[in-house]
Amino acid sequence: MRLFACLLLFALFASVSALAEGDATRGEYLYRAAGGCGCHTDRAGGGAELAGGRAMKTPFGTFYSTNITADAETGIGRWSDEDFIAAMTRGVAPHGRHLFPVFPYPSFAGMTRADLLDLKAYLFAQPAVRQPNRPHEVWPPFGWRWPLPVWKWLNLPLSVPTLPPARRDDPLVARGSYLVNALGHCAECHTPRNLMGGLRNGLFLAGSSDGPEGELAPNITPHKPTGLGGWSARDITWLLESGFKPDGDDVQGLMAESIEHGYGHLTLQDRDAIAAYLGTIPAVDRKVSKSSKNKGRK
Ligand code: HEC
Repeated sequence: MRLFACLLLFALFASVSALAEGDATRGEYLYRAAGGCGCHTDRAGGGAELAGGRAMKTPFGTFYSTNITADAETGIGRWSDEDFIAAMTRGVAPHGRHLFPVFPYPSFAGMTRADLLDLKAYLFAQPAVRQPNRPHEVWPPFGWRWPLPVWKWLNLPLSVPTLPPARRDDPLVARGSYLVNALGHCAECHTPRNLMGGLRNGLFLAGSSDGPEGELAPNITPHKPTGLGGWSARDITWLLESGFKPDGDDVQGLMAESIEHGYGHLTLQDRDAIAAYLGTIPAVDRKVSKSSKNKGRK
């Protein structure tokens, strides 16, 4: 009897710890759905995968992405599951250090715990690289960490438009919402920001003239002609796989990278889900162009 109880306890413990470790294979898919974390690899500078050091130019200065490999000294190798979850969902690193929202935790906050742990398992299964983080070059007060709790209070959580009643129970749309808002973090680039760097929720996915690395991220709401109103769902699905737009042109920069290393690896069903969800969000009449910065603001 005692032996049986011991075995039972052991089996219970083994299954709990297996759960806690996460599934790296599932994690790889989630990593792709999150766009392949390209910001954490300095591809132009020939940097190692996920070792950070990539310059992210923003209107507030230049942030350098951090090492998210499992190296114990310079990466996140010592982070527990709870440390990882706190960083991804609340923007708080171990020892209470607040992270700048250039890291899109407001979106990742919507990920399920199981998905977060699987993603962590995938990251920890990749080669650990020893590469110290580079300090950010950001103007005060944006480079200060102490006001970040106030920033969070003012700008969080991510506000997502409510679905039209007719689409509320559609599982494809619900899956699309999770992929767009939590994993894919599309709003972090495609929604314009206020002067504090918070997302302007009334202009959800309506385009940003000053996206990361100074790139223009177009309006992807269903508005015609300023958004994707003229695109079919199939056009969106195809862009997410190939990088090609309906007019035969291809996307560049961060979107091209996110497709190559991320969204392009999703199943057809998941890309269809993203397209279905994008069709349900409010259409915003907003032409985004580099030169219209500030002028074009609504
Ligand atoms: C890291 C920033 C970033 C993220 C995250 C991102 N995008 Fe983009 N996206 C861009 C940029 C920049 C462009 C413009 C590329 C170009 O014009 O060459 C773009 C272009 C596009 C286009 C083409 C629009 C047009 O009119 O040409 C679509 C559609 C699109 N993105 C959808 C998405 C979806 C859906 C997601 C989330 C699953 C997403 N993007 C996530 C930066 C991003």
